[in-house]
Amino acid sequence: MTRPNRFMFDDAIAAFQEHKGRVIVEIGGIRNRGWRDTDGHSTLRWPADATVWSVDNDPAAVKLTRELSADRPNVFCVLSDAIVFLRAFPIRIDLLYLDGPHPDREDGRNWHFEAYQSARMTHRAVLLIDDTDLPRLGKAEFVVPAAMEDGFEVVAADRQTLLVR
Ligand SMILES: C[S@@+](CC[C@H](N)C(=O)[O-])C[C@H]1O[C@@H](n2cnc3c(N)ncnc32)[C@H](O)[C@@H]1O
Repeated sequence: MTRPNRFMFDDAIAAFQEHKGRVIVEIGGIRNRGWRDTDGHSTLRWPADATVWSVDNDPAAVKLTRELSADRPNVFCVLSDAIVFLRAFPIRIDLLYLDGPHPDREDGRNWHFEAYQSARMTHRAVLLIDDTDLPRLGKAEFVVPAAMEDGFEVVAADRQTLLVR
């Protein structure tokens, strides 16, 4: 059975560009070379005029992401635990894409909350979260309430959830 496939990369990029954003951090690089309906090949979606940091703790995913984005000098692929990366990242983030560990097969619900809390974002930031069409908002379960407290508004919610402030 295929999942509804309402990716929101275009809407997130439109908000990012309207806010004159420059820095994108994505958590979870490309792990599958071919198309799967679970994977959006996010790294290849971001605009060429943004500086993109793609973070993954799986060496194979980082290697593949580097290979597939080799023609994009604006993309930096980092092998790291994402929470460790986010805590140390010195630049404020204009667009944060959260697509890390599975909400249920791993402890992704709490994990994404911790990742969100670890990220320093700009005042007019965009937040995009994947796998939110699962029960109790999947990866976004604890992120959405915290982000709303921080001034974000939910713009759209489906397979992905898009928040803007
Ligand atoms: C769903 S995949 C990402 C798919 C990708 N964003 C795309 O659109 O094709 C989730 C990724 O999160 C990575 N991941 C899991 N735990 C992580 C952690 N603690 N730190 C960084 N990356 C992690 C996995 O290695 C995996 O590659």
